[in-house]
Amino acid sequence: MASLTVRKLDEVLKDRLRLRAARNGRSVEDEVRIILRDAAEAPTAAPPPPATTTTTPRWPQTGPAITRPRVTLIIGGGIAAYKALDLIRRLKERGLHVRCVMTRAAQQFVTPLTAGALADERCYTDLFDPQSEFDAGHIRLARDTDLIVVAPATADLMAKMAQGHADDLATAILLATNRPVLVAPAMNPAMWSNAATRRNVAQLARDGVAFVGPNAGEMAEANEAGVGRMAEPVEIATAAEAILRPPQSRPLAGRRILITAGPTHEPIDPVRYIANRSSGKQGFAIAAAAAAAGAEVTLIAGPVDLDEPPGVHVVHVESARDMLAAVEAALPADVAIFAAAVADWRVAQAGAQKIKKTASGMPPLALVENPDILATVSRLAENRPSLVIGFAAETENLIGNATAKLHRKGCDWIVANDVSPASGVMGGDRNTVHLLTAARDGKGDPAIDSWPVMTKDDVAGALVAKIAERMGQTNA
Ligand code: CTP
Repeated sequence: MASLTVRKLDEVLKDRLRLRAARNGRSVEDEVRIILRDAAEAPTAAPPPPATTTTTPRWPQTGPAITRPRVTLIIGGGIAAYKALDLIRRLKERGLHVRCVMTRAAQQFVTPLTAGALADERCYTDLFDPQSEFDAGHIRLARDTDLIVVAPATADLMAKMAQGHADDLATAILLATNRPVLVAPAMNPAMWSNAATRRNVAQLARDGVAFVGPNAGEMAEANEAGVGRMAEPVEIATAAEAILRPPQSRPLAGRRILITAGPTHEPIDPVRYIANRSSGKQGFAIAAAAAAAGAEVTLIAGPVDLDEPPGVHVVHVESARDMLAAVEAALPADVAIFAAAVADWRVAQAGAQKIKKTASGMPPLALVENPDILATVSRLAENRPSLVIGFAAETENLIGNATAKLHRKGCDWIVANDVSPASGVMGGDRNTVHLLTAARDGKGDPAIDSWPVMTKDDVAGALVAKIAERMGQTNA
């Protein structure tokens, strides 16, 4: 039990003793003697209560957070502490549960309230915190985690770590932990290159501490530049994820994947548009599965009502032409997956103002064809992704139409799915797909792999596993 709690208990007992002695008209010493004599004469001392395993959790434990990998983010006292707030968001985006600890110096730059509000639970600051320290909370904080990230790690904090100091909550946790530790140093270049810091870094590396950064660049101090800037939050989050997820569970690590999803909206006038029933669910599920497999994913989404998958860079677009521009901007990529239901046509001359009803009857709506994004990317001479995957949404002659589409568009694989109203695929959660793989010469019959009815999440997982297998084979 921490000394603060023991001291408190001691005071309460002494107060009670004094009261009892005063009530009985005895001195405190006499009262103590009588209590001890009574205890010795008691027939049998009551057995201690049995150890119970159903103690109230000391820390807030929300359901899903338990299954998420847990990161304890120790925020040190440097100007880069403000970036730690963005880091919380980046870690959470990757589906990690984040708990923050702040040093006293860090609280000069950002407040525990802000860090706690952004994280999954309150921010811890004190070694002698009555709310958590009554059961040696620093030991619990050191162990109830899968990874400790120190960002920013100041020169002072790293020196303390290297020496094994434990005079505040952050250093006590770092000394008590048996979990991996990732450090993101941030300091002035002179401090970073100082012999003492070099020794501390070398010592920490020998102790098994992992480092991310520091980077070279401008310092907060005017006219100062050099190595010492804290790594960007995205880099730190990626390094954290790499430690938490072993390589075999991230077969697409280092791969860039581009995915289109959802419908497109083609304007008729400022208030009306041509659309389709695509929900975007399948494309979003593929993006989430690819990100979970370690890929760097850019998801180009038409108008949908879906949450952005964690760890995915999402670009929102409206029309087919916007989507093509976003796809071109996102290249190069190793793999491109075109799951969007792109509108085939757009109105040749969309009205600048709302089109009004007139006595002369219906307005003429001339349509022109939209660019075919999949075919455009499949035929790129430069920057063609090594694996281009299309979808064939068909309501009849599924395999025949999908095979024709594979040849016509020049992609490598096509995921054929029945989108007839009876299938319930459009907007639904399940999908029945056939994976068509183009013959090596691009002309012969494709190989067909028919999958059973699956949820869109399972289709995404199966497709990502196939992609990982293929990328592993070609090492492209
Ligand atoms: N696609 C695309 N750009 C378009 C139209 C389609 O990138 N302008 C892509 C889709 O994302 C999908 C594939 O092409 O991966 C097939 O889409 P689909 O709607 O099934 O085929 P269409 O080309 O529209 O042909 P059709 O409407 O004649 O079936």
